[in-house]
Amino acid sequence: MCGIVGYIGKKQAAPVILDGLERLEYRGYDSAGMAVYDGSRLQIAKSTGRLNVLYNHTRGGEALPGFVGIGHTRWATHGMPNDVNAHPHVNKSGTIAVVQNGIIENYLALKKKLTDKGYEFVSDTDTEVLAHLLDYYYNGDPRKTIIKMIGHVEGSYALGIVFADHPDVLYGVRKECPLIIGVGKDEYFMASDVTAILKYTRKVVYLNNLEIAELREGGMEFCTVDEDKIEKETVTVDWDVSAAEKGGYEHYMLKEMMEQPKVVRDTLSPRIKKGEIVIEELAMTDAELANVKKIFIAACGSAYHTGVTAKYIFENLARVPVEVDLASEFRYRDPLLEKNDLVIVISQSGETADTIAALRMAKEAGCRILAIVNVVGSTIAREADFVMYTWAGPEIAVATTKAYSAQMAALYLLAMKLAKVRHYLHGRKQQAMLNDLMKLPEQIELLLNNREEIQRIASRFIAAKYVFFMGRGIDYAICLEGSLKLKEISYIHSEAYAAGELKHGTISLIEEGTLVAAVSTQPSLYPKILSNIKEVKARGAVVLSITTMGNIEIEKESDYVITLPESNPLFFDSLAIIPLQMLAYYIAVGRGCDVDKPRNLAKSVTVE
Ligand code: F6R
Repeated sequence: MCGIVGYIGKKQAAPVILDGLERLEYRGYDSAGMAVYDGSRLQIAKSTGRLNVLYNHTRGGEALPGFVGIGHTRWATHGMPNDVNAHPHVNKSGTIAVVQNGIIENYLALKKKLTDKGYEFVSDTDTEVLAHLLDYYYNGDPRKTIIKMIGHVEGSYALGIVFADHPDVLYGVRKECPLIIGVGKDEYFMASDVTAILKYTRKVVYLNNLEIAELREGGMEFCTVDEDKIEKETVTVDWDVSAAEKGGYEHYMLKEMMEQPKVVRDTLSPRIKKGEIVIEELAMTDAELANVKKIFIAACGSAYHTGVTAKYIFENLARVPVEVDLASEFRYRDPLLEKNDLVIVISQSGETADTIAALRMAKEAGCRILAIVNVVGSTIAREADFVMYTWAGPEIAVATTKAYSAQMAALYLLAMKLAKVRHYLHGRKQQAMLNDLMKLPEQIELLLNNREEIQRIASRFIAAKYVFFMGRGIDYAICLEGSLKLKEISYIHSEAYAAGELKHGTISLIEEGTLVAAVSTQPSLYPKILSNIKEVKARGAVVLSITTMGNIEIEKESDYVITLPESNPLFFDSLAIIPLQMLAYYIAVGRGCDVDKPRNLAKSVTVE
């Protein structure tokens, strides 16, 4: 996500902040900015594009004098990448500046309240509401004002704040998004990521949720939202820069897998309000939505796999027919598109050439286009009629993990919304589904914490020549993604099979020791997959089952078993994919592959 750097001390703040921001460039960003107190007021500098634009604009920071300031690299979530939307954001009088990393879920409600009170907004961001909210509550005491403000804010965030009438203090606060304090000699740093400050200090204080940091040249203080003072431990970080960029993990892919609970939560929770699913981005009335006769889904690679799962869910839950296509096939197969059909395109980058072509073709046919996209302002986001952002933050590893999980979460919301307006989902059933949906982030975390077990299993299959994945229904869709993850990063050939198809050819390839990953999460299909497991076992396969708890028969037949926590059967993609991602990751690491940059692959496929 976005990067935050703050400084207070004896050095000129702007060059230190720029230097820190430069070290956060690897995270991806589209604009950058700084606010520095120059002795009489806060000076703001912002620019779109690479950091060197801001660097040149401020002459390497020299043009902004002053010893306290905050800086930010933005990766757009709310509002296009441009100078106005870049951080910091300020109140009307320019006396309070804020930088934010995260998502303010109730920003529209807050914006309305503030607008009613006469506040004017210049940007499209969720962050600007914080600057005006601080202004609204400001009573001369920044700490109390910050506490009051966070009492009204919902979401996950890390904030750096400077007040022009208290320029000797730099404030920081966080909830769910990381924020650390760097401790120097008579100087303090603030950063979203330790990489930004390693050049200056290795002594770090980790802020916990809803703790407020007050940094002065002469010392630092911490308190809770009840204004109780807290003593915080200073620890010494011994990571090198490369490890620090990956949050201490060995690879970006592992770091991004570990971020999945957060990105799923960030995709779901702003769109669930008072027990109802609210997709403000989908500007269609309930009646229009209910009248959709057919849905087409077009996407590539992993994004296509989320579409395959979605077809099962949409048809089961909302009883609406869905066709799902690889975008590269869709664009040339002359599909029977009707005016007003809903076409959903799914893409992390928003720049995939085939998906863009599919979108344009469907638009030409008069369809309504809904894009599920991660990159704000990307081509797909600009050209679609409606955009549901996944807010997974920049994904650096070529093989997608967290964007996939966020796409899946967005599709659950859509399926449930559609089922609701078509009168297939209400009352207790809806409540139970929402409960299961909201449990997914912590269940994903539980599975991620079990990674040593997967690592142990993976270590046995490092030399595998080929691997099969089998499942039925949604489990087949999960297998498609599990198989792609494995082959793209480990270079082991793998195939996903609809388990019923085995006998029609593939079973001849099973020999002594062949690894078969069997996914069985759908209760109605357990007996079927059990027979398939027996069939491959009889031919010498070693079976790793990914299944639900208490599935004794399947456990008995399998050589290795990973059990998943309980959920609604329609949501199991999000859980079953976690061990499969980790299996692929640990096998690839064991084989010495460059997991973050697999050979021949690009992160964004912008050519046909
Ligand atoms: C696989 C992977 C690719 C992408 C595909 C679509 O791990 O990352 O298969 O899913 O290239 O890319 P986007 O989502 O950017 O359209």
